[in-house]
Amino acid sequence: MTKIAITRTAHPKQPPADETLAFGKVFTDHMFLMDYDEGRGWHDPRIVPYGPFTLDPATCVLHYGQAIFDGLKAFRGPDGRIRFFRLPDHARRLNNSAHYLCIPKIDPAMIEESIRALVEIDQRWVPSLPGTSLYIRPTVIATETFLGVHPSSSYLYYVIVGPVGAYYKEGMNPVRILASDKYVRAVKGGLGAAKTAGNYAASLFAAEEAQHAGYTQVLWLDGVEHRYLDEVGTMNIMLKIDDEVITPPLNGAILAGITRDSVLTLLRTWGMRVSERPIAIDDVIAAAKAGRLEMWGTGTAAVISPVGELGYKGERYVIGDGKTGALTQRLYDTIVGIQYGRAPDPFGWTRVLGNRPGG
Ligand code: COI
Repeated sequence: MTKIAITRTAHPKQPPADETLAFGKVFTDHMFLMDYDEGRGWHDPRIVPYGPFTLDPATCVLHYGQAIFDGLKAFRGPDGRIRFFRLPDHARRLNNSAHYLCIPKIDPAMIEESIRALVEIDQRWVPSLPGTSLYIRPTVIATETFLGVHPSSSYLYYVIVGPVGAYYKEGMNPVRILASDKYVRAVKGGLGAAKTAGNYAASLFAAEEAQHAGYTQVLWLDGVEHRYLDEVGTMNIMLKIDDEVITPPLNGAILAGITRDSVLTLLRTWGMRVSERPIAIDDVIAAAKAGRLEMWGTGTAAVISPVGELGYKGERYVIGDGKTGALTQRLYDTIVGIQYGRAPDPFGWTRVLGNRPGG
């Protein structure tokens, strides 16, 4: 693997107090960059002071959205050590998104090393207050300057990191979601399974309408029949009806969430009945009305987010008296316990900063 060149900032900043952290507003002193050029491949991995890029106005990512990213976190435990949560899985997923967007893959070992090296340099920025973490955003953008529509011949891979608090202002309190019967996020055969900028652009209009109506996020239904649950704006969706936990299958239209996978693994280990199958909105509403429903979202930014209210076709359905369900709380406590190193990690999901693979 090519050595990463390091240029340290001459002006280190003061990290904010942990108590003041929101999501995605503050970034550290450094960033990682690496270029791709056709014929040369990925080259010049480097860590430099955090700062703006200069882009030609004709840069193709600005016009056609050939961009991918991922999102993962590092946690400082009560033992003072910093742990990455499922780092190799996030590296794999970034390359999976690259595949959909015709972006050249990056050596997964280099993705992991870019993140480790950057967090190592900026480790004083990893907060320690429970509920806070360092959010890590690896990104690839197409950088060729041209206005024709075809895959770019050059790219920039970069990683930025910043200390964060809760993603939703509700924190771990239940959120309200609105099932949209009008707008769709993605369809099978499209880009729904990729973490690409356009999917989030496609979500903004409906999300604004939902927020004006008092909801936190949109619950997307399938793009063909508007009948089956797909996912929520920044999370996968899960629910429990009686003794069955149900989540939509990875059908190509939804993101293969890593927290989703962690939760399914835990539930199966606990001996619960788990189904990855299509679930119709009508069945969810019937279960909500009968008081048989518990519902939550899973995502890296949001972790586990209880759903306390569901809106659909002008009606509001309160779920579990609007309170966090017992299983939702158990999942949250278990995942967070593993992430901060407070609980055993039987699945080998965490990697401690400083312990390199094979090292
Ligand atoms: C994440 O959960 O990491 C996400 O990327 C969701 C959102 C912040 C875009």
